[in-house]
Amino acid sequence: MSTRLIFIIIIFFTTSLGLGAQSFYDDAKNHSCLKCHSFNVITFHNEVMGKDQKKLMNPYLIMDTLDLKTGVHQNFDCMDCHSYEYETYPHPANLKLEPMPSCLDCHGYDPTYATYQFEKIDEEFQKSVHAKIGDEIFSCESCHDQHTYRPTARNSERIMEIVEYSNGICLSCHDDMNRYESVAGHENPKIVQVHSWLPNQDLHFRNTRCIECHTTVVDSLMVSHNILPKTEAVRSCAKCHSGNSLLQASLYKYENLQARSANGALKTMLTNQSYVIGTNQSPVLKRILLIVFLMAVAGIIVHATFRILKK
Ligand code: HEC
Ligand code: HEC
Ligand code: HEC
Ligand code: HEC
Ligand code: HEC
Ligand code: HEC
Ligand code: HEC
Repeated sequence: MSTRLIFIIIIFFTTSLGLGAQSFYDDAKNHSCLKCHSFNVITFHNEVMGKDQKKLMNPYLIMDTLDLKTGVHQNFDCMDCHSYEYETYPHPANLKLEPMPSCLDCHGYDPTYATYQFEKIDEEFQKSVHAKIGDEIFSCESCHDQHTYRPTARNSERIMEIVEYSNGICLSCHDDMNRYESVAGHENPKIVQVHSWLPNQDLHFRNTRCIECHTTVVDSLMVSHNILPKTEAVRSCAKCHSGNSLLQASLYKYENLQARSANGALKTMLTNQSYVIGTNQSPVLKRILLIVFLMAVAGIIVHATFRILKK
């Protein structure tokens, strides 16, 4: 058999298995929606003027095709959720009023998704500060984009990635004045100023999630959803920087991390109850600090002897 034939057979099998299959979103230029909704500039035929016309796209309506392809609903096409009438442009005005399904409408009480505990998440969300704003304004979709959501904490093996993804959700509003105001009706407090009591703020925001300090841990849930009032937020350094850090029960609890931590610093963090977060210092840095310290001591001694001699 020629190698070429084997190659063709392999391709046939992988595509029929769904591996390497074409996604709806692969060819954005020719996709009936993405030819506009993934580009900055759109071209359309203006029937009134009888000619083609170019226009800038509203940035909030532009989608990243890579994010679409990695999202949980990657196997959907746009019209599985949106009306077919969107195929005409300008879109019919009445579509703006079309009700859209939320997470629970499709996932609630469905045993297929039991491990995610959608119902329990909803219960926790209903207790949160955000739900009090009114669920007509604030819903699951305020934090989860159905187009692109990826369960990162569950699947990623890198703490930094989990933290970045999770905090990105919070900051998409708390760091975007327009988006925040559209929900709250007033200006947003500046996140950096609010947390000015926290040293190394940048380092903390890269290594811990907002939800670590702003929710209480619910053992059965992968991700706590009850955002508490600010007065109940964690402020005590010892909650994390101690032998039994709260991070053991939250950020570091994921199995995907534990599987990967057969050795190395992460294992120490996960398994050693007496490990203290932030004490994992680099030996090189330690040595440099020691040298700087010794030089300072030497300086003082020299200085002191000169003063004594001068007297
Ligand atoms: C010719 C470019 C173009 C195409 C093709 C297009 N859209 Fe749009 N779409 C827009 C523009 C521009 C807007 C901004 C609001 C407006 O002008 O109606 C928009 C707005 C929307 C909105 C938001 C409506 C709102 O609530 O404000 C949705 C949803 C939408 N499009 C879905 C789709 C879907 C689904 C398809 C494919 C079937 C599609 N669009 C195809 C240009 C396009
Ligand atoms: C799993 C269901 C689902 C699929 C698939 C889906 N959408 Fe959406 N879409 C929604 C929901 C729900 C909203 C309303 C979001 C909200 O309320 O904030 C929305 C809103 C929008 C908006 C308004 C802007 C926004 O983000 O709120 C646009 C534009 C849009 N969709 C375009 C598309 C296009 C283009 C596709 C295909 C690439 C697509 N949608 C596929 C569920 C879906
Ligand atoms: C229109 C119905 C619909 C809506 C609304 C919807 N989903 Fe889904 N979702 C599905 C379907 C169907 C699948 C399975 C897709 C597949 O297997 O390719 C799925 C898959 C998922 C998965 C992956 C499950 C797994 O283990 O494979 C997660 C997580 C998820 N959705 C979360 C959400 C969240 C969060 C929301 C709300 C922001 C939401 N979904 C809204 C229908 C929906
Ligand atoms: C205030 C923001 C916020 C709101 C509101 C919110 N979520 Fe989440 N949710 C998050 C964050 C942050 C994560 C963690 C993201 C990650 O790493 O997967 C998450 C994770 C999830 C997960 C994945 C959990 C797992 O076991 O892997 C599901 C499912 C989910 N949310 C569903 C919902 C549903 C349903 C609602 C509405 C009742 C909702 N969320 C409302 C912020 C929110
Ligand atoms: C180390 C713990 C910790 C972390 C991490 C943390 N916060 Fe906070 N946050 C607090 C505390 C404590 C307060 C209360 C401060 C006060 O009232 O002076 C607070 C206050 C807030 C407030 C209330 C602001 C106001 O005055 O109305 C918001 C909003 C907030 N945090 C959002 C976030 C977001 C978003 C993140 C992630 C980027 C985050 N926080 C990370 C501990 C934390
Ligand atoms: C869609 C926008 C949006 C997103 C996303 C969002 N928030 Fe908020 N958040 C708000 C608004 C608006 C308020 C102010 C509520 C009010 O004024 O009553 C608020 C209030 C808060 C408060 C202060 C509560 C108090 O007592 O004043 C905290 C803490 C907070 N959010 C944390 C978070 C965290 C953590 C996340 C991510 C998991 C998050 N938020 C995601 C819009 C958002
Ligand atoms: C939500 C948990 C949490 C809280 C609360 C917290 N930290 Fe941290 N802190 C961390 C994590 C995680 C790191 C990064 C550790 C690492 O890189 O090994 C860190 C790093 C640090 C570092 C840098 C240590 C180093 O090795 O470079 C200092 C200093 C620090 N924290 C001080 C504080 C102080 C002071 C407070 C109280 C005002 C505080 N932290 C509250 C989790 C927390």
